[in-house]
Amino acid sequence: MNSSPLGIVCHAGAGTIDDKAAYAAGLTEAIDEGYRLLRQSANAMEAVVAAVTIMEDNPLYDAGTGSDLTIDGQVEMDASLMTQEGRFGGVAGITGVKNPILVAQKVMTETDHLLVCGLGATEFARKMGFEDYNVVTERARTRLQKVVDHGSKYFLKMNQQRFPDGAPPTPEAGALPQPGSKMGTVGAVAIDKHGNLAVATSSGGIVGRMRGRVGDSAILGAGTYAGLSGAVSCTGHGEEIMRRSLARDIVERMKTMPGSTAMTLVVAEARRKKLAFGAIGFDARGGICYGHTTPDMAYGYKVAERLFLFTEEKLRIR
Ligand code: GLY
Repeated sequence: MNSSPLGIVCHAGAGTIDDKAAYAAGLTEAIDEGYRLLRQSANAMEAVVAAVTIMEDNPLYDAGTGSDLTIDGQVEMDASLMTQEGRFGGVAGITGVKNPILVAQKVMTETDHLLVCGLGATEFARKMGFEDYNVVTERARTRLQKVVDHGSKYFLKMNQQRFPDGAPPTPEAGALPQPGSKMGTVGAVAIDKHGNLAVATSSGGIVGRMRGRVGDSAILGAGTYAGLSGAVSCTGHGEEIMRRSLARDIVERMKTMPGSTAMTLVVAEARRKKLAFGAIGFDARGGICYGHTTPDMAYGYKVAERLFLFTEEKLRIR
């Protein structure tokens, strides 16, 4: 039994972050709570769910309260969690709940299913006792309005795009939507005192997307993946993350190399393909890893009683 590596790493999205101090403060709250639970012998799943719940409640992030809206102003949230033994629960396109990750956890613990979507997910949430809750913020409305004002050219382009020969997408297709490019998906990966791994990811999706679109945060292997070799949560352009099963790709590579090497290789490949992408994770030995292709990624972690934040990037020793 491994009793040494205990820690948690969280992200609050990859993109361009204006108010870095506010993003870091929200991360600190989530990381501290997850770590506190781990120190009190909570398991990795409990820690990541607690951390993601805190970030869902932070209106700054694009998950839970503050979720970005579809082109017709609807809320459709995605969330999932997974443990290293392969237990998985997810919700896709859920609406009318405060914390999608808690519903995803119920899918894992209370059903024989892996992923529940749309109205069925909301109905299931009600049966599990989750009350109706409106997560729409004025900020999210403003962000949508900007996209509406500028037209949703990006999404038309996505729908028209064809890759018959498997060629990588153009820089434009992989780039963030403009204007208001912000990716505030949240995620957490933890390793508990027994060396068990878990991951949770939650997202309000991309602003101005088509109604019914599901992103990577709900999808096993895409935004969320855990196995015996490691666990990873992704953020960024969901279509490309799904196309390449990026969380699983990183964890699979951890079978033969440290998490930091696996992450570096996948991020380098994503950068070559001009994907907007970021990820965090732990390998099975407690090796932390993180990386991003975007100008910024909000992330932080706590190991051995020490908190590290992306705002201190230059001070850190990798
Ligand atoms: N990565 C979040 C999304 O694309 O929905």
